[in-house]
Amino acid sequence: MNKENIVLIGFMGSGKSTLGRWISKEHGYEFIDTDDYIVEQEKRSINDIFASDGEEYFRNLETDAVRHLSQDERKLVVSVGGGLPMREENRRILKSLGRVVYLSTDVDELVRRLNKDTTRPLLSGGDIREKITSLMEKREAIYREAADIVVDTTGKGFRQIYDEIVKF
Ligand code: S3P
Repeated sequence: MNKENIVLIGFMGSGKSTLGRWISKEHGYEFIDTDDYIVEQEKRSINDIFASDGEEYFRNLETDAVRHLSQDERKLVVSVGGGLPMREENRRILKSLGRVVYLSTDVDELVRRLNKDTTRPLLSGGDIREKITSLMEKREAIYREAADIVVDTTGKGFRQIYDEIVKF
C-alpha cells in the first residue's frame, strides 16, 4: 500500500469530493474522483449510464476505474462513489491503494444535503429519507469493514478531519 495516498469512502453526500479537493489543494495531492473519471471516460452522465446500461454496467466501470488507479504512482487523494466499496474486489484494491477513510455522516444530515439532488439515480423518486435509511442499513457495516479509519464528520471542518486522518 502507498501509505501517503488517502482514499475517501462513504455515503452519497458525505462530503468525500469536497474534502478530497480541499486536501489536494492544501496538501499537494493529486485529486481523483471515480465518478468524474467514469463520466470523462464514457462522455455521458451517471444518470445516462444507469438509464441506458443499468447499474451493473456502472459497477463494472467502477472496478475498471479503481484497477486503473492502482497503477497510478502519484501521491493521490481519491474519492470513490458511495456504492463502490460494496464489491469485495474493489475493497481489496482500495486497501492496496492507500489509507481508506470512511466519512461517517448521520442520516438527518444526509437527507438535508441530498433532498434536492437530481444527479443520483439511486435516490430518484419516492421518499428520500426511506431510500437513504434502507441503503445505509445495507452499507454501513461494509463501509466500516472497508475502512482503516472511521471519521465522524458531524460538526467538523476540513482541517480537523484531515488532522484526524494523518494522526492515525
Ligand atoms: C452511488 C453514489 C454516487 C454515484 C452513483 C451511485 C451509490 O457517487 O457513484 O450515483 O451507489 O451510492 P457519490 O457517492 O459521489 O454521490
